[in-house]
Amino acid sequence: MSQNTSTAVMQRRREPADSLDYFPTPPWATRALCERVVASGLIGGLSAWEPACGNGHMARPLAEYFGSVTASDVHPYGFGQVMDFLFPSPPPVEPDWIITNPPFRLAAEFVHRGLGIARQGVAMLVRTAFLEGVERHASLFSVHRPWAVMQFAERVPMVKGRLDKSSSSATSYCWIVWRTDVRVNDTAMFWIAPCRKRLERDEDYQVVA
Ligand SMILES: C[S@@+](CC[C@H](N)C(=O)[O-])C[C@H]1O[C@@H](n2cnc3c(N)ncnc32)[C@H](O)[C@@H]1O
Repeated sequence: MSQNTSTAVMQRRREPADSLDYFPTPPWATRALCERVVASGLIGGLSAWEPACGNGHMARPLAEYFGSVTASDVHPYGFGQVMDFLFPSPPPVEPDWIITNPPFRLAAEFVHRGLGIARQGVAMLVRTAFLEGVERHASLFSVHRPWAVMQFAERVPMVKGRLDKSSSSATSYCWIVWRTDVRVNDTAMFWIAPCRKRLERDEDYQVVA
């Protein structure tokens, strides 16, 4: 796949403050996380909550691996419950895992909220650039040390508002995984080897919004 490395493309995901930041995740990228974490024996048969589900492009593949999946979003896309994940109300479920691709500008808040709820872990698909930043290090990574960073070797193309199999991207993504059930002293680093070809299915792109 050709990749456009221009600065204009890389910066396209800068969103206005009131934006929902709706960039649906190609389902193969969620399967990549599940295959890796399932291989660790961690998630089979457990429950997950996708709290920023959009049209369900991440919740559906999660249901292939988890015993049950709750889906919600602040906007009524027609998939899942309508709920502001950051509103301080009692959570509708106490899941083993909270997994999402959060709105980028609220990603740290999503992690903090998720860590207060999930029984086993939190996994967030974020731009790799999320790993840097003095303030974020002080307020998040040094306080809540991730269990693992899983960097995609290949690009995960995401475009605003729709799932597009033919799109390309200059933005690098990784999964960051926190555990709430064990003490973490060191963060493991994994590369997610190229897997799109193996984990992508034609029907992933046939879901009607
Ligand atoms: C990057 S998109 C990801 C959508 C979906 N998780 C996926 O991977 O396909 C971010 C989503 O966060 C939702 N969102 C934004 N603010 C939210 C909030 N406070 N609570 C719940 N969902 C929110 C948006 O409506 C949007 O669907």
